[in-house]
Amino acid sequence: MEGAKGNARDKDTVGDAVGVAPTSRRKFLAAAVGLTAAAAATPALGNPNNQPPNVADWTRTLGDGVATRPYGHPSQFEKEVVRRDVQWLTASRESSVSFTPLHELDGIITPNGLCFERHHSGIAEVDPADYRLMIHGLVDKPLLFTLDDLKRFPRVNKIYFLECAANSGMEWRGAQLNGCQYTHGMVHCVMYTGVPLKILLEEAGLKANAKWIMAEGGDAAAMNRSVPMAKALDDCLVAYRMNGEMLRPENGYPARLVVPGWEGNMWVKWLRRIKVGDEPWFTREETSKYTDLLETGKARQFTWVMDAKSVITSPSPQVPKLGKGFTVVSGLAWSGRGTVKRVDVSLDGGRNWREARIDGPVFDKACVRFYYEFDWNGEPLLLQSRAMDSTGYVQPSKGDLRKLRGVNSIYHNNGIQTWHVKADGEVENVEVG
Ligand code: MTE
Ligand code: CO
Repeated sequence: MEGAKGNARDKDTVGDAVGVAPTSRRKFLAAAVGLTAAAAATPALGNPNNQPPNVADWTRTLGDGVATRPYGHPSQFEKEVVRRDVQWLTASRESSVSFTPLHELDGIITPNGLCFERHHSGIAEVDPADYRLMIHGLVDKPLLFTLDDLKRFPRVNKIYFLECAANSGMEWRGAQLNGCQYTHGMVHCVMYTGVPLKILLEEAGLKANAKWIMAEGGDAAAMNRSVPMAKALDDCLVAYRMNGEMLRPENGYPARLVVPGWEGNMWVKWLRRIKVGDEPWFTREETSKYTDLLETGKARQFTWVMDAKSVITSPSPQVPKLGKGFTVVSGLAWSGRGTVKRVDVSLDGGRNWREARIDGPVFDKACVRFYYEFDWNGEPLLLQSRAMDSTGYVQPSKGDLRKLRGVNSIYHNNGIQTWHVKADGEVENVEVG
């Protein structure tokens, strides 16, 4: 696998084989034809017995039959495509985070098994038969729902990103972690199936002074957050499916709160209780945590919305070295305030910007995929991407963000990321200006 990957991405070999650096898509294709000859002449690129003109092993024998893999897994050659954690970041794995391998993915949907996880007290293993969701407080009739009850309400399907407010939090004081999995991997984007929270709240009947809800999880942290009623009635969901199948235990099985565009901490997992009140609860997660300390000594509180952000996922530090020639720059962008309208890419640290090509569906408060294709001549690059959303907001540089926010924050770092592509094709996390 490693050999094959190196081969496919080694465009230096491609350029050398035809004696020119490809300068157009047509020339690139011509160069790709050249690759066949180059690969044949280059030793140690896979097993020649499995390559043309020979008949490969997998062509000579019958493969496994149907249902020998009752729940399918990725190819054995994709073993490196996994969530990863950074052990020194947290004291225990029960209260920690694992990161989405963004550099290995494409399109906008995160596969369920690769969605980053953030738990305060580990993964609760909830038996669906014992699952109950309680709605009480300032309501006409308190209610207790079983999972089957939830499934009998009208349901909707929505694709949303979820970003932890702490995503890129390690980068406030300068470039830290080498790889977009670590700098930006606290984001995922899946299709949720669930009941609009509005329907459940109306079923319970809201009192006139019902202004806030408090959502609480059934894990050992009993993590809880206050959500203003306007948001609860607007687009929040009680979701039980992700990408068609039931939620994974890691992501809140059997039901979680979905709070589109707002910080991931509010998306309470293993949701067991919603209390309706007339003021916020000022829980741990909205007082000592999830507030942003400014230079003045004051802290911003209730900074719910995740502002527009983007990152180039390839090339990036964990991806094999970039080779000269036709290059596809690929990345993700999202905004908690609406849709991503445009993404620009810079090759020179933000001096010049070119519009990237957004490809695939563009949904409200979901990730979009962007590409920028160009011909790399081997000059060092300072690669950046910059997202603009439907409100006209433009993703700020890290310098501009620090002017407003200082460097004491952990949360809500949506500054522009820079990748330094060196002449030898190696990529490093750096900062400019
Ligand atoms: N809900 C409960 N009950 N317990 C938790 O620890 N973590 C929160 C939120 N909901 C958490 C929770 C945080 S900080 C984030 S970023 C998201 O869940 C992460 O969701 P994920 O694990 O599905 O990626
Ligand atoms: Co979080």
